[in-house]
Amino acid sequence: MGCTSSVAEKLKKESIAILEKNRRVVDGYTYTVPSPTAYPHQWLWDSCFHAIALSHIDISVAEDELRALVSHQFENGMIPHMIYWQKDNGSFVDIEWGKEGTSAITQPPMIAYAVLQIYQQNNETAFLSEMYPYMHRFYTYLLTQRDPRGNHLIGIINPDESGEDNSPRFDIPLGLPHQHSLAENTKRRFDLFKKNIACDFDAPHCMKNFFWVKDVPFNAIMVKNLECLARIATLLGNHDDVATYKKEMDAIRRAMRERMYEDGVYLSTYGADYKTIHTHTWAIFAPLFAGLYSREEAEKLILTHLRNPAEFDAVCGVPTVAKNDPAYDPVGFWRGPVWMSVHWFISKGLRGYGFHNEADRIVQKSCELIQRSGFREYYHPDTGEGLGAVDFTWSALIVDMIND
Ligand code: GLC
Repeated sequence: MGCTSSVAEKLKKESIAILEKNRRVVDGYTYTVPSPTAYPHQWLWDSCFHAIALSHIDISVAEDELRALVSHQFENGMIPHMIYWQKDNGSFVDIEWGKEGTSAITQPPMIAYAVLQIYQQNNETAFLSEMYPYMHRFYTYLLTQRDPRGNHLIGIINPDESGEDNSPRFDIPLGLPHQHSLAENTKRRFDLFKKNIACDFDAPHCMKNFFWVKDVPFNAIMVKNLECLARIATLLGNHDDVATYKKEMDAIRRAMRERMYEDGVYLSTYGADYKTIHTHTWAIFAPLFAGLYSREEAEKLILTHLRNPAEFDAVCGVPTVAKNDPAYDPVGFWRGPVWMSVHWFISKGLRGYGFHNEADRIVQKSCELIQRSGFREYYHPDTGEGLGAVDFTWSALIVDMIND
């Protein structure tokens, strides 16, 4: 488990309270805002994190969260990364992201995982059946529209689709030096966004000519979620789909190995010719979540990188960027601090290999961080200071982590 049962009990109570506080009901749909002030809308992977936590608390609310999420699916199958249920708040997200009522880009496809997690709690197939058509169309969209050259890696058209908006992994594809201000980064992302708009968000014919990053976490998450979707299709008796999902999952695994694996780690690539991005971020651990490293490789990865104090073994957790990378900034948004979702992905991945002590160590540090600094968006890797948005729901993932 990684933290004492009394601490776990206390953190669960606090998680329930924050998820309730941030719950909204609009037009008969129930969803959770990640933070009432900074993020007052619905986000794709956030809602999956919420549903994962809520599956331990109140299954029907977890189901509602995902119902709201798929309610704005596009005709082509894409699920937008943001839904503005209420347009009354003056936060940055009122920037028009391309469409009326939603954004026109997506985010890491965690939906099948979240849906399967709910099934694992209640063993009922009704919700699987209800969600299946949405999921089938969404994952088919990613497999086709985001892989126009048929190379079996999913491309993202904007850094924000990774969920790590200004991660240094995207500096080179954006044409930025590692040292630059947040304002410069934002400007570059919005310039790219203007291209997205000019392309009418057409990934296969237009956007593939720009940024077009094949990101390690996005593709690892895709592999894991196709595995979950295949399991769901099996439970529902959709045998043809099972074979298709498994085939696609294996093809992505092979393509990641062929085009991303270098010196013992997976690295993101960009452009039509798959140029490798050597920036050292937590993304090297994301493939653990999908079981992409062999056991020996995973052991070496842990020893060389995860437990290396010069890189990712910080006092308070796993920084998002290696401490010895030139881009590392312990307080910079996605450029160094500890994020609870990253702890969740890594600890899940470690458990998949049976490295429970390593996973417990991360869960323990997560418990300490929340106890010390509360439910914050991210945390200083050395001091544990809480940073970014307040009343942030991702820390509720602790409810799932302490359950392992
Ligand atoms: C930020 C994060 C993104 C998240 C959103 C809402 O944009 O980078 O991952 O989905 O906030 O929490």
